[in-house]
Amino acid sequence: MSNFNIGTRVKLADGNEMPIQGLGVYKMTDEQQLINSVKTAYNTGYRLFDTAQMYKNEAAVGQALKELGADRKEIFVTTKIDEENQGYDGVMKSFEESLKKLQLDYVDLLLVHWPIHQHFFETWRAFEQLKAEGLVKSIGTSNYGMLHLEYLKTKANEMPVVDQIENHPYLSQESMLEFNRENNIVTQAWAPLGRGRIFDDPTLVQIANAHQKSTAQVILRWHLQRGNSFIPKSVHENRIVENGSIYDFELTDEEMSLIAGMNKNTRISQEPEMVYEIGHQYPHG
Ligand SMILES: NC(=O)c1ccc[n+]([C@@H]2O[C@H](COP(=O)([O-])OP(=O)(O)OC[C@H]3O[C@@H](n4cnc5c(N)ncnc54)[C@H](OP(=O)(O)O)[C@@H]3O)[C@@H](O)[C@H]2O)c1
Repeated sequence: MSNFNIGTRVKLADGNEMPIQGLGVYKMTDEQQLINSVKTAYNTGYRLFDTAQMYKNEAAVGQALKELGADRKEIFVTTKIDEENQGYDGVMKSFEESLKKLQLDYVDLLLVHWPIHQHFFETWRAFEQLKAEGLVKSIGTSNYGMLHLEYLKTKANEMPVVDQIENHPYLSQESMLEFNRENNIVTQAWAPLGRGRIFDDPTLVQIANAHQKSTAQVILRWHLQRGNSFIPKSVHENRIVENGSIYDFELTDEEMSLIAGMNKNTRISQEPEMVYEIGHQYPHG
């Protein structure tokens, strides 16, 4: 782990490779701010950019990548299919629009944003088709729990290679991570920083002081040492750089256990079972 850096990639079960660290762009609605953030991240060494149809900023991500002019093979772009676009035809049609907005010929990773019971298998059939056509290099899920994945397994020809889930010290999801490891699925943490709400936690502050690092860096290092991929979001240059500077220190086993002990099983967003049942994430009830 000591020779890891921000450019390190993990091997996925389908043979492709994905950077462990990326930039999340949820809630970046100001186009110029998003473009600046993507450029700063790229110049810092980030290669993974995580957007979604729901964020309404795929076009700005596309514009940023175009302006960067980076080698396409170097960049790893993830987008996600919205609940309202699930189903075979919905996925095919909306994905075509996503590609246009992103100004790309393919995306590296396409995720089902949330599990919903309508079109559950049809959506996945479309994902497998897009992969077969080469328009998507890897296919995965987001917010899928163990039962969603077990259910998917009953009909899938290929299983997701990534499951992107809410994951931070207050929602450590130990058994979900274990399940994903056993099934060759890489866990990717969304809201890896607990959306900025846990920085004052005394356990984190104490560990951060011991390493002369920030609490954000300690949390991201914890993800790294657990074997997670993670996609912290920031629009601030100093924070984007700070979040990428986690490869020069190591948490001890004791510190890892202390952070594991912070789990409260509290969520920032919806319980995936609820979204599965009602078929949409928003509006939050
Ligand atoms: N699949 C899903 O359902 C799902 C759901 C939510 C999010 N996501 C993805 O995951 C990404 C990350 O999650 P998130 O954006 O919800 O939360 P997050 O990355 O845990 O936290 C982002 C918040 O922390 C602040 N922040 C970032 N770095 C900081 C630092 N070093 N010091 C102090 N504050 C810092 C940011 O503020 P500033 O921007 O002002 O710096 C922002 O308010 C999203 O952007 C999105 O791509 C996926």
